[in-house]
Amino acid sequence: MNFKLLGKSGLAVSELCLGTMTFGNTTNEADSIEMIDRYIDHGGNFIDTADVYVSGKSEEIVGKAIKNRRSDVVLATKVRMTTSNNINGVGLSRKHIMDGVEASLKRLQTDYVDLYQVHVWDHATPIEETLRTLDDLVTSGKVRYIGCSNFFAWQLMKSLAYSDASRYVRFVSIQPQYSLVSRQMDREMHSLCLEEKVGIIPWAPLGGGFLTGRYTREEPIEGRMTSKVGESAWINRASDKNFAIVDAVIEAAKELDKSPAQVALRWLIQREGITSPIFGASKLEQFEDNIGAIGWEMPVDIWHRLDQVSALPDDYPNRFIDKFRRPFE
Ligand SMILES: NC(=O)c1ccc[n+]([C@@H]2O[C@H](COP(=O)([O-])OP(=O)(O)OC[C@H]3O[C@@H](n4cnc5c(N)ncnc54)[C@H](OP(=O)(O)O)[C@@H]3O)[C@@H](O)[C@H]2O)c1
Repeated sequence: MNFKLLGKSGLAVSELCLGTMTFGNTTNEADSIEMIDRYIDHGGNFIDTADVYVSGKSEEIVGKAIKNRRSDVVLATKVRMTTSNNINGVGLSRKHIMDGVEASLKRLQTDYVDLYQVHVWDHATPIEETLRTLDDLVTSGKVRYIGCSNFFAWQLMKSLAYSDASRYVRFVSIQPQYSLVSRQMDREMHSLCLEEKVGIIPWAPLGGGFLTGRYTREEPIEGRMTSKVGESAWINRASDKNFAIVDAVIEAAKELDKSPAQVALRWLIQREGITSPIFGASKLEQFEDNIGAIGWEMPVDIWHRLDQVSALPDDYPNRFIDKFRRPFE
């Protein structure tokens, strides 16, 4: 396993992060703990969870699994979604964040979180209130680094500028949905992250399973994609373009003697600016497949082929700005 520094920080994280959204749900507790053990045995140190995953069960299982090797793990969790019926049991207010971190620490059986992430932008709370609270948490030692997830580029830039102006700690990472079938981040967020040295840790790197080659143009098979809601719902993935991407992934996998999941993850690992894709696996066999994305290099020509088939259309204002590029740019 290789390691990369997370954004501008000195924190080293493994090139693949283990996602735990299914833990306590479609992955039972014993298999979840076994998966964490195997991940650490493969050299992984970066584990992502959230207060809302399976109503806190995911955090509880992760806490149990890493209890005796806490300092070996870079533990990431999140706050923002609804955790109670209370009017303040949601959002990025000082109250919800302060209550949220205490509840997460308890479930995780630890006294600090390595990477505390705001799960999604909150239109109701001024970002100034959120950033001041997060800075206080870092000062208190309960949180070591802060990150964000599901932001527009302007929201991230506004946050970074406010943190810098206020001499607060700034977000070291963004967790966007990003994969060969979900490249919206390439519009603005990707270049912002390169410019500002913010680490990118993509969620749903397999498109929720779509990129594993297990789906055909007909009907979804049993599993996450049969769900009618959510980004990975069949209706959001099953387009002609996405099936052309899957075809290209399967072709590359045959050429490389790898699995489609390994190819899809490897493409991300080798993409500029990507720190660590957060992969999911609801079964141990899936985990074994996905972890095979490490330990080899994808040849540049194949990487470019996959890049081209999945790229966003060249659009305004990019097209216009490019037209007027000066020779030394
Ligand atoms: N920040 C956010 O808003 C956000 C949102 C979503 C997720 N996340 C994080 O990102 C992690 C990964 O998200 P994700 O689960 O959507 O990502 P994903 O890796 O794109 O999809 C994982 C799903 O794909 C299927 N799968 C995985 N490996 C497979 C294989 N080798 N062969 C066949 N099928 C395979 C399984 O679906 P089945 O269960 O159907 O078999 C699995 O649950 C989560 O655990 C969580 O930590 C963050």
